[in-house]
Amino acid sequence: MSDNQVFLNGEYLPIDEARVSVLDRGFIFGDGVYEVIPAYGNRPFRLEEHFRRLNNSLSAVRIDNPYSETQWAAIFDRLLAQHHGDQSIYLHITRGVAPRDHGFPADTPPTVFVMCSPIAPTNPDYLSKGFAAITLDDIRWQYCRIKSIALLPNILLRQEALDNNATEAILIRSGYVTEGSASNMFIVKDGVIKTPPHSDQLLPGITRDLIVELAQQQDMACEEATISEQELLDADEIWLSSSTKEILPITRLNDKPVGNGKPGAVWKTMYQHYQVYKQQLREQAEGQH
Ligand code: PDD
Repeated sequence: MSDNQVFLNGEYLPIDEARVSVLDRGFIFGDGVYEVIPAYGNRPFRLEEHFRRLNNSLSAVRIDNPYSETQWAAIFDRLLAQHHGDQSIYLHITRGVAPRDHGFPADTPPTVFVMCSPIAPTNPDYLSKGFAAITLDDIRWQYCRIKSIALLPNILLRQEALDNNATEAILIRSGYVTEGSASNMFIVKDGVIKTPPHSDQLLPGITRDLIVELAQQQDMACEEATISEQELLDADEIWLSSSTKEILPITRLNDKPVGNGKPGAVWKTMYQHYQVYKQQLREQAEGQH
């Protein structure tokens, strides 16, 4: 691990030597935003979409993007070249280092940190059996569209799920599903896929958007519509999606089986489409080397 190079404020250095000030506003206030970008065949996945979301998060919190897309891509390429296989890029920008004061500091450069790590292969049990989730009240703020580094509510929710022998918490706000503690949510009922529409109450997941796109391409019935808690409880299938977990089936909810308690047929079909899409990207990337 120690020879794994990371990028910090213009320098490439071993992760053990990367240091930020205790006055960094990321450390003091959680004042920053982040992205997680998977890379297959050393090629970042859906980079344009991740850049768009990064720019939306940055402008929402009023931090200027410190680099052009070409500069970001050069940083990613250099870090990705250290490993082969599937990796995830973690990118983190804070409002920089300044004396502790809630108001924005003047003329302070942001802190920029990027690291890459291998994506662990999916636990085969998750694919063959699915896993458990519980519903919890969505205790987060009103700007969940922003990919904020301040994740304390998400962490508390995830831990509550783990403490209840579940892998993910499905969050409910005013009787409707928003998302998971670190994932987006899908249900299937009578063959129709459903996921909540983009709103301030959930992160516009890049994986989520791709699943909706794949469903359209493959003529699978898919709606972007609100999901009530009752619809969730009555669903034939429940899936989560995220960049590092892809699409996984939730087969137990609040200690009861979802549908027949096994990964569903619609999930299997979508999972296959997703794998084909990824493999095509890997092959394109290899063709260019
Ligand atoms: N989290 N919703 C939340 C709250 C998330 O944290 C994530 C991803 C998603 C899925 O978005 P995407 O498909 O773009 O990964 C939805 C990342 C992986 C994380 O925090 O590690």
